[in-house]
Amino acid sequence: MDEACADLIGGMIRIKPRAVLGLATGGTPLGVYRRLIDDCKSGLVSFRHATSFNLDEYVGLPEDHPESYHAYMRRNLFDHIDLPLSRAHLPNGNAADLEAECRRYDALIEEAGGIDLQLLGIGHNGHIGFNEPGRELSTGTHVVELAEATRQANARFFNSIDEVPKRAITMGVGTILKARTIALIAKGEDKADIVRRALEGPITTDCPASLLQTHPQLIVLLDRGAAAKLSRLSPDLSGGSTLPEERTV
Ligand code: F6R
Repeated sequence: MDEACADLIGGMIRIKPRAVLGLATGGTPLGVYRRLIDDCKSGLVSFRHATSFNLDEYVGLPEDHPESYHAYMRRNLFDHIDLPLSRAHLPNGNAADLEAECRRYDALIEEAGGIDLQLLGIGHNGHIGFNEPGRELSTGTHVVELAEATRQANARFFNSIDEVPKRAITMGVGTILKARTIALIAKGEDKADIVRRALEGPITTDCPASLLQTHPQLIVLLDRGAAAKLSRLSPDLSGGSTLPEERTV
């Protein structure tokens, strides 16, 4: 799955060297980023002319805090590839005026010509970026209160849950859905239920990822565990399958 996704991103950059990439953090993209680093180091792909926009950043966490998304991206990708840092964008969660920062970020994406390929993970509650389930969703980049479930899921990266910020800046679902291609990635059986709800359930703000069903160019890359509950795939997947272990959907 990591390889397929890295090939997708590498292929996009080869076809369009000035591509605008939407990037994600979290555990799921780590393998993809490791492969992109290898591909860049071996000369298979170059990000020299590319631009990137990350989905989100915590509010109030210093950029040099190891768990800030700025630090994550440097550690896991930017420090090891040839993408100029001046074109590697993340929202500034420490801006004095957070609302102005949200507008600035959307304007920057527009100026860059919009996102060609958006990489997306999915939260256990169906969030994409930090667009949490609720009665309504926002279109543009905005400040969110993180759901308790999300803070608990992310507490694994901090010393305790008290250290997990309560707010974040995130691209809105409108910004995400405007990307020309979206690559949704998920791994592990613990994501099987939410992957099924997102892809086969009703389109509802209770599961923000379900809005992806409306996107004309959605590519879904799952490992076997995350795909296990998709009824549309194949009854074989639920047991006694002859499919290879590393099947990519
Ligand atoms: C990260 C992000 C989140 C994660 C999601 C899944 O930038 O926007 O939506 O993609 O929380 O996280 P992992 O991959 O850690 O399961």
